[in-house]
Amino acid sequence: MATVTIKHISKSFGNNAVLRDFNEVFEEGEFVTLLGPSGCGKTTMLRIIAGFEKPTSGELYIGDELVSGGKTFVPPEKRNIGMVFQSYAVWPHMNVFDNVAYPLTIKKRPKEEIRTNVERVLEIVHLSQYAKRFPNQLSGGQQQRIALARALVAEPGLLLLDEPLSNLDAKLRESMRFEIKEIQRKLGITVVYVTHDQTEAMAMSDRIFLINRGVVQQSGSPEIIYNQPANQFVADFLGKVDFFKGISENGKITIPSMGGQTLSYDGPRSGKVEVAIRPENLFFDDNGILSGTLEEQYYLGDVDDCRVRVGSTLVRVIASGYEYRKRKKGQQVHLGVRDFMVFEDDGSLQEMLEIQT
Ligand SMILES: Nc1ncnc2c1ncn2[C@@H]1O[C@H](COP(=O)(O)OP(=O)(O)O)[C@@H](O)[C@H]1O
Ligand SMILES: [Mg+2]
Repeated sequence: MATVTIKHISKSFGNNAVLRDFNEVFEEGEFVTLLGPSGCGKTTMLRIIAGFEKPTSGELYIGDELVSGGKTFVPPEKRNIGMVFQSYAVWPHMNVFDNVAYPLTIKKRPKEEIRTNVERVLEIVHLSQYAKRFPNQLSGGQQQRIALARALVAEPGLLLLDEPLSNLDAKLRESMRFEIKEIQRKLGITVVYVTHDQTEAMAMSDRIFLINRGVVQQSGSPEIIYNQPANQFVADFLGKVDFFKGISENGKITIPSMGGQTLSYDGPRSGKVEVAIRPENLFFDDNGILSGTLEEQYYLGDVDDCRVRVGSTLVRVIASGYEYRKRKKGQQVHLGVRDFMVFEDDGSLQEMLEIQT
């Protein structure tokens, strides 16, 4: 097992500053996810940890060992790391056993040791009965498990996974999440997982590091990041959210775009604010604090995805699909508000939303 200590790491390609002052510790046995929009620097960070890329400045430790920084640079093969990429290259001319054995074969490990280790990891990834098959006789998910087994066979202390499920179809992706998580628990190994998929990050991680433009916006458990986002970017990237400009004074927030309707608020922010409401935190309720007109509803089975016009603005409501038939388009409705978030209106939201698109 291994900790990863990242001390003030920055990375530029020419004038392009890709990572800015990354300063984090990943704990032993922790499942950490680097999450963020495409191009934010996730893969670059992972490649620096692996040793395929040198940081422009800063230091990287694996366990207690300095592996990158100053004059020191430990090459990838000496870092005791397993890696799986999105495009999992398995060798088509080798059977499953030989594919998985490869990292040990090139190290010229004794035959018996190779056999024991390969059998052990094949068991872990549920491929024991396919040892003699060739990759083209297996499904995409099974091929990805070959890559995973190969990454694990040399018993690395650290496993790096870069969007390993992106090439799989939706159902398989979901079941593989749980498999990877289970393998990590079983082995007690430290995992650094890269994805742009927030649901994947939420389902698997002990801690998520949400990155935007090479800067960690927030780190924390899925619950913390989802429910107590540090800024509008975080609130917007994880889950669904609508933002409304408001004025906070005397224990309430008035929202002009909602025709001046108000929410009670006893938090610390006053003056101009940005209110963020997650659509699942709104519900239809005759005594609800907001009122409007039901403009659209999309019945999705488990949920009913609705748009309600409140004042001049459209508000998204995700209600349980169970009571779908009770409502009709064009009907006057009231909405209760379970929870909402309040940010300073510093103009950053617009900037952040523009970056994402
Ligand atoms: N070898 C490279 N040379 C030049 N620019 C690179 C190189 N690798 C990555 N970049 C740039 O760094 C930025 C971050 O890339 P990357 O780490 O791959 O992002 P992510 O994995 O989050 O999508 C992008 O703007 C990308 O074009
Ligand atoms: Mg990437």
